[in-house]
Amino acid sequence: MSVKGLLITLEGIDGSGKSTAAKHISSQLQRIMPERRLILTAEPTGGEAGKILRKRLSTPDGTGSSPSKRMEELFLFMADHADHLARLVGPSLEEGAIVISDRYADSTAAYQGVTLQGIVPDPVQWIRRVYAPWNMTPDLTLFFALDPAIALKRMLSRREKEKFEQLEFLRSVNENFRQLASLEPGRFVLIDASRDAQDVAAQAMKRILKRVQSSW
Ligand code: TYD
Repeated sequence: MSVKGLLITLEGIDGSGKSTAAKHISSQLQRIMPERRLILTAEPTGGEAGKILRKRLSTPDGTGSSPSKRMEELFLFMADHADHLARLVGPSLEEGAIVISDRYADSTAAYQGVTLQGIVPDPVQWIRRVYAPWNMTPDLTLFFALDPAIALKRMLSRREKEKFEQLEFLRSVNENFRQLASLEPGRFVLIDASRDAQDVAAQAMKRILKRVQSSW
């Protein structure tokens, strides 16, 4: 019998601590289940579209704010997601791996759901509809819930700043994540990201282990 692959995604606003948690989670999981293939991945990826995105996100004027530039950005995120599915997520799940992705399609719905306001009608739903026919739905999505003001404070102590780090923007993104979570309560699980890093990782591990065990 082949082992069923499992797709777990980590979502939340910038500064919510999911990337730190991802590292803790993957090393703990690998220790607990040394026989299980584990893939830790992220979006934007290191693929072609992902590289363009990362370059833009790190240069202050790299992305214009005109409607066409914002649409271009949306389609770059979507192209990167399609590439991620074809190159890594799909094949890894086929092999029975546990795939943990630090951001996934929900980030596009939440973030571009803000940047496309006034450009397409109801952008969160619009983006979800574009993804629906071809996306691979995660088995579990951990939403790292944190007050945007606290997230911003955490980030301001970091050196690198990206264009998405303003409070109003993060508030809107956070609202979109909450909307997405309420649309699919069976897939989303809330993690209290206001706690310290160890506690956050422990909450995430508990949920993941529960999901892994129920898939056996
Ligand atoms: P992030 O995971 O925060 O990258 P890093 O690990 O380098 O901090 O992602 C970079 C930014 O890209 C972040 O502000 C969220 C944004 N983003 C989108 O706007 N749409 C998307 O679809 C994805 C995946 C990320």
